[in-house]
Amino acid sequence: MQLKLVFSIAFLFCLTGVSSTSHYFTSIFSLGDSFIDTGNFVIMATPVAPVWNDKPPYGMTFFGHPTGRMSDGRVIIDFITEEFGLPFLPASLANSSSVSQGVNFAVGGAPVTGIDFFERNKIVRFKLLNNSLDVQLGWFEELKPAICNTTEEEANGFKNCFSKSLFIVGEFGVNDYNFMWTAGKTENEVDSLVPQVVKKIVLGVERLIKQGAVYVVVPGNPPTGCSPALLTARVSTGRMDYDGLGCLRAVNRVAMRHNTLLRAAIGSLRGEHPQAKIVLADFYRPIIRVLRDPDRFGIAAGEALKACCGAGAGAYNWNGSATCAMPGVVACKDPSAAVSWDGVHYTEAINRYIAKGWIYGPYADPPILATIRY
Ligand SMILES: *[C@@H]1O[C@H](CO)[C@@H](O)[C@H](O)[C@H]1NC(C)=O
Ligand SMILES: *[C@@H]1O[C@H](CO)[C@@H](O)[C@H](O)[C@H]1NC(C)=O
Ligand SMILES: *[C@@H]1O[C@H](CO)[C@@H](O)[C@H](O)[C@H]1NC(C)=O
Ligand SMILES: *[C@@H]1O[C@H](CO)[C@@H](O)[C@H](O)[C@H]1NC(C)=O
Repeated sequence: MQLKLVFSIAFLFCLTGVSSTSHYFTSIFSLGDSFIDTGNFVIMATPVAPVWNDKPPYGMTFFGHPTGRMSDGRVIIDFITEEFGLPFLPASLANSSSVSQGVNFAVGGAPVTGIDFFERNKIVRFKLLNNSLDVQLGWFEELKPAICNTTEEEANGFKNCFSKSLFIVGEFGVNDYNFMWTAGKTENEVDSLVPQVVKKIVLGVERLIKQGAVYVVVPGNPPTGCSPALLTARVSTGRMDYDGLGCLRAVNRVAMRHNTLLRAAIGSLRGEHPQAKIVLADFYRPIIRVLRDPDRFGIAAGEALKACCGAGAGAYNWNGSATCAMPGVVACKDPSAAVSWDGVHYTEAINRYIAKGWIYGPYADPPILATIRY
């Protein structure tokens, strides 16, 4: 710990020198799902289905009221915009008039695969929102003239417009795999989806680079086998199905394979686009780090796999028919002492830890700050 602290302080000094990097980016654009959604899901889902994350206790820790974020407070992207002195990103579907400093296209539930795949193959029994990565990229492309707003920019393909913009693409994949897991698919069946999921992510990143994106953060998948929702949905009597942390081995194996393939694919993409600065962000290790040593993060050992806001008590405090903010379902007293906020999404405290790890290291290759100077 001591060593790491000294290292990261030294690292920062050498990165920042005397000049300030903190206001380097002029705008931030993000695509993804509920881990970084700042309101799109509520806007998109409200007309078609009951929505709960627009009700208390969502937002109890930071904003003091629900904002559409799926957390007790800020989500990862909020800590990134704060770091670079930019405003919180408006949800793209909110039609904000101020989009020049950034917009968030992420929507809860978004897969990378087009939704017709899951409907056609009867993997989900409910109507999915049409919000996959390609659709979000379409929203971005539609909004470009409003973001840049100069005829010269339009003529050069908006390339200068994005030269100091930070793009975040993901995480993607968690919903693709979760639709399969909750449909009772086997590890082999879920695993067979991994190469095409990774390929679609990389194609999406490339589509942005071709439109002038330079700085792109691509997060991998978290260990969803440790999430209260999947631990409940895929509960097993086989002790060998669980690892030493109590997480589902098969689910985490697929997440790890996704991350391995993503790393390789990003490596190739860097070769093809040497002018781009692509950050591979690790969403897996920070969670495992906390689960291995919960005491150090102020989390009681026996509570690390329990949702803060949920019902049913039990090992995971999660019941799919009584989730956070439904009548009678309340939050734990201190969300900062929990890993999982609502059984699927992380608490603000964990979101902060992840975001700092992506900005300063060690949970990114390279850390976001390191791309600014090199
Ligand atoms: C945003 O604008 C679109 C197109 O004009 C409209 O259909 C939609 O209702 C608006 N959304 C909100 C949240 O105001
Ligand atoms: C989703 O939206 C895209 C872009 O607007 C459209 O091309 C596609 O047909 C839609 N898919 C479904 C299943 O509605
Ligand atoms: C571009 O800027 C001008 C002048 O500020 C404004 O009148 C116009 O509406 C803007 N166009 C777009 C697409 O935002
Ligand atoms: C889950 O919640 C539903 C709705 O409140 C309730 O009927 C059911 O008994 C709960 N299940 C468990 C296992 O607690």
